[in-house]
Amino acid sequence: MVDLKEKIKRIAKEKGYVILAHNYQNKDIQDIADYLGDSLQLAKIATKIESDKILFLGVDFMAEAIKILNSNKKVIVPIKAATCPMANSLEPEMIIEAKEKYKAPFVIYVNSTASSKMYADYACTSANAVEIVKKIKSEIVLFGPDKNLAEFVAEKTGKKVIPIPGDTGYCYVHNYIRKEEVLSLKEKYPNAKVISHPEVSSEIQAISDYVGSTSQMEKFPNIDEGLEYIIVTEKDMVEKLKKIYPDRTFIPISSAVCNNMKKNTLKNILSALENEQFEVLVDEEIAKKAIVPIENMFKLME
Ligand code: 13P
Ligand code: SF4
Repeated sequence: MVDLKEKIKRIAKEKGYVILAHNYQNKDIQDIADYLGDSLQLAKIATKIESDKILFLGVDFMAEAIKILNSNKKVIVPIKAATCPMANSLEPEMIIEAKEKYKAPFVIYVNSTASSKMYADYACTSANAVEIVKKIKSEIVLFGPDKNLAEFVAEKTGKKVIPIPGDTGYCYVHNYIRKEEVLSLKEKYPNAKVISHPEVSSEIQAISDYVGSTSQMEKFPNIDEGLEYIIVTEKDMVEKLKKIYPDRTFIPISSAVCNNMKKNTLKNILSALENEQFEVLVDEEIAKKAIVPIENMFKLME
């Protein structure tokens, strides 16, 4: 295993690839990453690195967003099938219809396809969704695809946030975490604080001490005196937290596994570097329009 990791790092260096990995990758993959972060951090890093070759380890919508922001760079992924069912649940027609019906701006969660982003007004990630919606000059916003994040944003901003597509827009990894599972961990670790991702259901948000994106979860122990945390998101987020705070205890939700994130393996990563594939390509016309909500997001954050 150590040899394989060393080999991957060596070949990446020889061929000039920078390895960007999402926080939900497993520990071995986290170990080989040059940069490990949430979707917003990785998109920003991708625009700043000097290398024109990126090996991206996450799921397809994230790789697509990185390519859109870096059209002159070569972006490769180890497997094309690593996708996000929630991102795929929001279809372009749903955005067009909702905008027609409500005459309100559409805020699209970055967990969406480029073909859908083309029709949205602003993009957001779970790290900045509240800030973006607060700054938009409208008391009603359309928001998709995640209904749980939409509810969280409505609560934090006091605005009317209409979820599109509605009941079918959710992440199965987060939405199906059961309250009983969190409560039974709470019983086992009575001093632990519950830290949740906003993609979890509102009943879990309600029993959480803190709700935030993976990058916000990462900062939380810095401003908190706690020693134990129950981390209610994809289970491998805990691996990153353990590395940053080795003297604290992080308890994962063992059932929360994103199968698509796990389609990247050391074996297919090595093969991706050896063969310099699979290249992420986004149609130029789609990219030209899909970048607009992403740029609008960056402008609002200035
Ligand atoms: P982050 O925006 O926190 O990276 O989350 C992305 C994601 O896929 C959550 O399920
Ligand atoms: Fe999609 Fe959920 Fe996996 Fe995130 S954790 S990539 S939202 S399926």
